[in-house]
Amino acid sequence: MEQLGLNQLRSMFQEFYKSKGHYAKKSFSLVPEKDKSLLIINSGMAPLKPYFAGLETPPSKRMTTCQKCIRTGDIENVGYTARHGTFFEMLGSFSFGDYFKEESITWGWEFITEVLKMPVEKIWASVYEEDNEAVEIWKNKIGLPEERIVPLGKDDNFWEIGIGPCGPCSEIYFDRGEKYGCDNPDCKPGCECDRYVEFWNHVFTQFNKDENGNYTPLAHPNIDTGMGLERLACIMQNVDSIFDVDTIKYILDEVVNLCKVKYERGKAKTDISIRIITDHIRSVTFMIADGIMPSNEGRGYVLRRLLRRAARHGKLLGIEGSFLAELSKKVIEISGLAYPELEEKKDYIYKILSIEEEKFSSTIDQGTIILNDFVEELKLNKSNILSGEQAFKLYDTYGFPVELTQEILEENHCSVDMDGFNEHMAKQKELARSARKSDTDAGWSDEFLDLDEDSKTQFIGYNNLQSQSTVKSIFVDKQSRDKIIEGDSAIVILDKTPFYAESGGQASDTGVIYNDNCRLGVSSVSKLKGLFLHKVKVISGELNIGNEVTGAVDKINRNNTARNHTATHILHKALRQVLGKHIEQAGSNVTSDSLRFDFSHFEAISKENLEKVETIVNEKISEFLPVKVEEMKIADALNKGVTALFGEKYGDIVRVVSVGEYSLELCGGTHVDNSGQIGAFKIISENGVAAGVRRIEAVTAMGLYKKSNENEQIIQSAGDSLKTNTAGILTKINNLIDEAKAYKKELEEFKKKSMTNSLDKIYEEALEINGVKLITKKFNDYSINDLRNLSDDIKNNNKGIIIVFATVNDGKVTFMASITDDLLEKGYHAGNMIKKIAAAAGGGGGGKADMAQAGGKDPSKIDDAFNVAKSLL
Ligand code: ALA
Repeated sequence: MEQLGLNQLRSMFQEFYKSKGHYAKKSFSLVPEKDKSLLIINSGMAPLKPYFAGLETPPSKRMTTCQKCIRTGDIENVGYTARHGTFFEMLGSFSFGDYFKEESITWGWEFITEVLKMPVEKIWASVYEEDNEAVEIWKNKIGLPEERIVPLGKDDNFWEIGIGPCGPCSEIYFDRGEKYGCDNPDCKPGCECDRYVEFWNHVFTQFNKDENGNYTPLAHPNIDTGMGLERLACIMQNVDSIFDVDTIKYILDEVVNLCKVKYERGKAKTDISIRIITDHIRSVTFMIADGIMPSNEGRGYVLRRLLRRAARHGKLLGIEGSFLAELSKKVIEISGLAYPELEEKKDYIYKILSIEEEKFSSTIDQGTIILNDFVEELKLNKSNILSGEQAFKLYDTYGFPVELTQEILEENHCSVDMDGFNEHMAKQKELARSARKSDTDAGWSDEFLDLDEDSKTQFIGYNNLQSQSTVKSIFVDKQSRDKIIEGDSAIVILDKTPFYAESGGQASDTGVIYNDNCRLGVSSVSKLKGLFLHKVKVISGELNIGNEVTGAVDKINRNNTARNHTATHILHKALRQVLGKHIEQAGSNVTSDSLRFDFSHFEAISKENLEKVETIVNEKISEFLPVKVEEMKIADALNKGVTALFGEKYGDIVRVVSVGEYSLELCGGTHVDNSGQIGAFKIISENGVAAGVRRIEAVTAMGLYKKSNENEQIIQSAGDSLKTNTAGILTKINNLIDEAKAYKKELEEFKKKSMTNSLDKIYEEALEINGVKLITKKFNDYSINDLRNLSDDIKNNNKGIIIVFATVNDGKVTFMASITDDLLEKGYHAGNMIKKIAAAAGGGGGGKADMAQAGGKDPSKIDDAFNVAKSLL
């Protein structure tokens, strides 16, 4: 067979299926869009489930993809075997109620025998034992000898993954020859040995499986085929291990290059580590490109776990410092053409990898020491189970994924009490939950309210700011009430409302609810199970259940919030335009006063770029772009290129907000009608809020007006203090700065002069003892540096001198002794002297022969200390 590279095989497959009328779609993101049952995409068909189930219309009835997939179920085998990996690519061909078994098998056969030119006699097929139709096709249409068609049971040949579309399947096998086989004379596909490699699964998707395990036939049967690209490459390149496939080997070679350990393709620990890193770097690179961030939950945790596992094996191999970012370059080089998102986001990928690896590296050493202690302790106690508490401490304090702790323990023939660990984890989650709860108004929690969940509040506030409503329920202190009177604070539920409830980062409306008998102020509104809870205070009168009322939204407040919300959309787009496509929204907070936008980015934004962003937003405002709100199917919205949030759940019908042609986002919020209504936009601050997440705060129109008033007041009072008008402030400040500089200079000169004066005086006052001159002097608030300079000046001009100074700062004494060089030869030693001198003032210290210093506690003893100096001489 011709040696074909992995990248080449991918294109050949897609070209082939295009020639059979398939729409070739780019791989979907690893993040499932609307599928709560799945953390990460794990097969070619996973993102296509709505098409199979008939819930959505596919762009074409025939499709082909090469889908990025991650499976971590077998992670403990990765590195230990030749074929396990967490990341793989799945080639797939799909029919949504179009062609069925015959075409699927016939085209499959054509591709492997005519395009790839696999030897016909090496191909085997398995079929589901009850599927005679498939046997018929293999035998009569393809002409595969009957002995190479193997019927197998449900475990092998009925494909289902969780709930959703499923059905019988036929798998295609490649016979690698006797030398890979076992001794069983009946060895054939289905046998556990390595001879027959299963490489292409054709699933005849005929059923839908529901949560209760029922199989319902689908209106139109479908085709879902999946072929592991790496495994196909193994066959075509005639290698035994996926780690020897051209593209993967390219990455593995770089691991070897970085760790400088020879790769022997065997079972040595170093070989295993090399393979683990090679596999994991592919997963993490692709995950980050798809917007997944390392975290302690969900897919972010899967990423963190893989990343930290790779980092640890790097350390085991002796790689010094961070290496993952460097290594991911190879992944991007080798796969960047097929997956342009890797190229587009490469700087971002490197940055996230570096940040996370560094974060881990600073704790891993410490954590490893602690874990080693735990292991020692276990050995001493003749136990081999680490307590859940200890494993939790490693997780919580040192960021050790518990799976990593398990792995390290297994290497030491120990294990972790996982039940105990899970208990601690649950406890911590509960703590966090109650902490969050106490942060919010307990009255909002559904646990306390006896809600009538069937009667959802009708929201009419997108187009109305007023409603005629009926009061459905009233709650005071979590208790249901029939009426409330002046002064009461309560929660009121209406049948319909114009008030927007806090959601999607947008603050709620405020306003009033009133009728002839009462008036209530509405301070906030929240949403719970379709009910809108108005937090109110009765200003006057009384309100009863069943009353008819008018709900009126504070218009100015609503308008200002709308301005900030639309501005947030424009800002999001402008950030992507200036900084790059890696910018993803990480959170937002829109109120009537200001807006806050959190997004993924790895470094502080330069002043220049910030200005660019701000200018673009203001330009878009000045272009008076119409803001349109449309409801459409999620698929249509995505086709239009809408910006959707990763990990967000959207219904089938979504609300799409567009600002001219510039921005298109899924959003449930309230907006202005035209960008011009925003007026103006100003960024107030930019800073980091977490690793890889930045935050911009900004204001528009009214917020900007307020801000500018505040600034004006500051300027005004600055002017008052400086006794000048606004225009004169700068000149005045510059003059003051110049003056201050001049004063400082003058002061320094004065100090110097006074020192020189005192120098002469000091010298005159010196005592002569045994042919040596002794200078003792006490200073206040001189630094030790000042004293040193002074003594150096004296020593530079004189000989035969011993200087002992003391300075008092904040009630503490510091002594300094200094001796001219000529006396050193005679055996005088400043260090020895200072010890005794300082002792007289309750202190101690020491130093060299020519210069020494020491502290003292009692300033009143300075004269005693000087006397010690005299007597020493
Ligand atoms: N969905 C099938 C599989 O993943 C093709 O094996």
